[in-house]
Amino acid sequence: MLFYLLALMTTRHVVLAIDGPAGSGKSTVAQRLAERLRFTYIDTGAMYRAVALWALRQKVDSSDMHRLEQLALAAEIELSPGQVRLNGEQVTEAIRAPEVSLAASKVAVIPGVRRATVAKQRAIAGRASVVMEGRDIGTVVFPDADVKIFLDAQPRERVRRRLLELQAKGEEVAESALAEQMEERDRRDSSRADSPLSQAPDAVYVDSTALTIEEVVETILKIVRMRVTNGKEFH
Ligand code: DC
Repeated sequence: MLFYLLALMTTRHVVLAIDGPAGSGKSTVAQRLAERLRFTYIDTGAMYRAVALWALRQKVDSSDMHRLEQLALAAEIELSPGQVRLNGEQVTEAIRAPEVSLAASKVAVIPGVRRATVAKQRAIAGRASVVMEGRDIGTVVFPDADVKIFLDAQPRERVRRRLLELQAKGEEVAESALAEQMEERDRRDSSRADSPLSQAPDAVYVDSTALTIEEVVETILKIVRMRVTNGKEFH
């Protein structure tokens, strides 16, 4: 499959779109897929988080749509494996703080912020084949993506995963408070007027609740094989 993909990539870039709610496993799975396929991994949530971090630091109110759009347009966001930079500063850890998660979900409601961020995402995919994960990749950013996956998991499992992630970083969070925060964020991400989280009609639904990361990766690779490489195998 790799040979076929490399040949394909010399003629056009491939887009593998992965959408789904927080804690569904998108980031880990998308990173592994990008490694296996030798594509560029793009975490679009990190872009909204970077804009939100800047807004928090500048004390911009989450209702100030004009200022927030300006920040999103001006933000220089660089994504490299395992690293996020905002205007040259390393913000990889800072954008994962719980208050930034909530603020990201709020700035992501604003159409001007989305326009600016989506333009950056499309520009990246114009230069390379990508595994891009977020909420609106298969529906809005790349409605013609080669492969679309909607990755989901039961809410309790998603909370459990996020809790483990935070605990691994030494952060103390009460499970009930985290569940509430995630529910609030999911509700806002799914109900906003502009580009809400939803499954594209041609996306494949994958429930990761009872699967290991490797099982999810293999499931998606099979779909890539079917849709992009005419069933050709790896190696
Ligand atoms: O994937 P994440 O949890 O890091 O994303 C942070 C927030 O950004 C999330 O609450 C919703 C928003 N987001 C979005 O609206 N569209 C995307 N493509 C990616 C993230």
